[in-house]
Amino acid sequence: MARYAHITGWGMATPKKVLSNFELEKIVETSNEWIVSRTGIQERRIASEIETPASLAVQAALRALEVANVHPSQVDLIIVATSSPEHIFPATACIVQDQIGAKRAGAFDLSAACTGFIYALEVASSIIRSGAADTIVVIGTETLSRFVDWQDRNTCILFGDGAGAFVLQASEEPGGILAGVLRSDGSGAELLTLPSGAGRYPFGQTIVQNGQPYIRMNGREVFRFATRVMAQSTLEVVQKAKLTLQEVGWIVPHQANQRIIETAAKNLNLPVDKFISNIHRYGNTSTASIPIATCEAIQEGKLKPGDYVVFVGFGAGLTWGATLVRWGGPFTTKRKRIFGRRHRWLSRLRSRFLRWWRRIEGFLWGKNAA
Ligand SMILES: CC(C)(COP(=O)(O)OP(=O)(O)OC[C@H]1O[C@@H](n2cnc3c(N)ncnc32)[C@H](O)[C@@H]1OP(=O)(O)O)[C@@H](O)C(=O)NCCC(=O)NCCS
Repeated sequence: MARYAHITGWGMATPKKVLSNFELEKIVETSNEWIVSRTGIQERRIASEIETPASLAVQAALRALEVANVHPSQVDLIIVATSSPEHIFPATACIVQDQIGAKRAGAFDLSAACTGFIYALEVASSIIRSGAADTIVVIGTETLSRFVDWQDRNTCILFGDGAGAFVLQASEEPGGILAGVLRSDGSGAELLTLPSGAGRYPFGQTIVQNGQPYIRMNGREVFRFATRVMAQSTLEVVQKAKLTLQEVGWIVPHQANQRIIETAAKNLNLPVDKFISNIHRYGNTSTASIPIATCEAIQEGKLKPGDYVVFVGFGAGLTWGATLVRWGGPFTTKRKRIFGRRHRWLSRLRSRFLRWWRRIEGFLWGKNAA
């Protein structure tokens, strides 16, 4: 019997603190008008001191599990795609595994920069189709605001924090993830980089003096690369699934720049309103941008069972890729969506409890250490 990987749950979590372009004007030499016209971004979310990649990922994962009606103990594997992990090690995925109570799950982090969520979807669906796992939670989570040079107007205007998660489940019913394309070109590694804090440039005074703790980017070159590969990988994945572009209902692109999305739409000869975009609210949340945009598109009633949906991303590495999904299927019924809505309060309560518990733990640990 053939096995298919269906997306049966989705969830997102974003920090409360909003940083608008007008507030950025007070930090760095820029203007709301410049940022909106060149990027489409109006505001982004910034993690507070107690919000971390793992804490945002936990909230998003719990919400996705609620929608899927899956208990954490049923999860076989957790994949966290992130460009700003909790630590170099242990993996952020292991912290999530513990905090959501996924007692029998394996867990690992995946590093493919902003394309990470696409890579993680492809890995997860391959594992499910092979029969090695039945239920996988795929998460994209970021607090890139902590790696941004707030004096560098080329980069600090772009990034925001947040997390998004999907639950993938095995089914014999055809559908779900139908095709994937993963690509890379390491010769472009210097175009977008966060060089320090690892093996090549361990933390130290020289690193700080050379300004290497921060994201560095050649914006124009990344822009050129992004517009080229978005169209290219969308076409490739559609062909791989033996479909035509006209059959695709929605494209959920990585949210990096509204002009990149518009150029890709033009290159593909598609109306821009086929592309989901919420970049004006969140900026570029790297690995989290595609699941966050998907969650909001579902809330707005855009993605319908039976729709063909392309997720397409690009990022540092350079990396890029696309996933084609037939939305809906055996699990994504109306009943399930109602269930998801009805039980969202429970998930919020659980996340709130976990946050309190971490604060109490932090307080006790601080006392003990003292
Ligand atoms: C970064 C980006 C928005 C810059 O937009 P752009 O139209 O290419 O702008 P340029 O870099 O050509 O700069 C044009 C001018 O605006 C200035 N500028 C740059 N950032 C500015 C800002 N935030 N506010 C005001 N002016 C700014 C530049 O200094 C430059 O001035 P100059 O002509 O006097 O030198 C754009 O290149 C981009 O989005 N690139 C892709 C980035 C990306 O997606 N990264 C993540 C990938 S996952």
